[in-house]
Amino acid sequence: MANKGKILVTGGTGYIGSHTVVELFNAGYEPVVIDNLSNSNIGVIDGIKAITGSLPVFENIDCKDYNSLERFFEKHSDIKAVIHFAASKAVGESVEQPLVYYRNNIVSLINLLQLMPKFGINNIVFSSSCTVYGQPEILPVTEQSPIQPATSPYGSTKQMSETILRDATVADKNLSVVLLRYFNPIGAHPSAEIGELPNGVPNNLLPYVTQTAAGIRKMLRVFGDDYNTPDGSCIRDYINVVDLAKAHVCAINRVLEKKSKKNIEVFNLGTGNGVSVLEIINTFEKATGVKVPYEIAPRRAGDIEQVWADASLANKELGWKAEETLENTLKSAWKWQEKLMAKNKEE
Ligand code: UD1
Repeated sequence: MANKGKILVTGGTGYIGSHTVVELFNAGYEPVVIDNLSNSNIGVIDGIKAITGSLPVFENIDCKDYNSLERFFEKHSDIKAVIHFAASKAVGESVEQPLVYYRNNIVSLINLLQLMPKFGINNIVFSSSCTVYGQPEILPVTEQSPIQPATSPYGSTKQMSETILRDATVADKNLSVVLLRYFNPIGAHPSAEIGELPNGVPNNLLPYVTQTAAGIRKMLRVFGDDYNTPDGSCIRDYINVVDLAKAHVCAINRVLEKKSKKNIEVFNLGTGNGVSVLEIINTFEKATGVKVPYEIAPRRAGDIEQVWADASLANKELGWKAEETLENTLKSAWKWQEKLMAKNKEE
């Protein structure tokens, strides 16, 4: 396949980043990866190779380090676009260590935006989050839904980053930006060569579900069954990580082919379906045949009651649609968990 050009993927060994590197290869791009491995490991690169047969260029670089980043760009002067994943993402941790979050997430973005024009790079796709909508009054949420005050430093960094990128496009008419607002990414590559690698006790629902099913955790706690939802548990829009990764390829095609007249665009990336925590547990049990012991626990501070996406803009403009079923996605998460356990036994 013809090489469609080099794409810098920051945070390319992370959960969504690694799945995106695979899809970039599949689409004929040449992804180059930088990551400081703060929340991932170098073995992910082997997983990418196992799936695609291609080994991406990898450098251990922290995007906060302007000089290292500049040296990297000097070496790779032919990068066509950047997909910027590298960021910290744990809501609770961000409340405890706000300055770490502001430095990691904001300084990195500013460094990239300062360096890109120096090297003639005009295109950036940014990982944003549905967290910017808070608890929306009207569901599903469209890209026009109001942005609500952030409830955590993590959320603030996503809002600030969006503002920084918007301001940058006003000042630099050559810059093209796509902001992708992710809903809740779950699952793993169907090969189980790559997946989510949570550090310590998981915060997010799916890794907690699979670890409980595996017996690593005793009991899943369902945070609240007294919400104003059909079964009382919170509702989210859970999107398959491979589907999500494919949306990045569509966004890259769009900026490189200059398909839009606007130099900044925003897209929701979700399935358009709201699914409750209890539905996730039931569907997981049905799809895998494995029980997930759980108990109802008090609400988790700061949780949104319900949110799901109107993804029709991405469907129409990016030509992208979430395709995988929830059952298959949950199966893929379980297959990945089993693989991790088999690996741990070997070691
Ligand atoms: C939140 C943010 C999201 C951010 C993500 C990063 C919102 C709406 N979403 O996702 O933008 O990218 O954190 O980590 O702010 N749950 C349990 N038991 C558990 C774990 C979770 O019941 O052990 C429930 C939660 O109450 C929630 C759902 O599962 O209703 C999903 O939780 P989680 O996976 O942590 O994601 P969000 O909080 O939606």
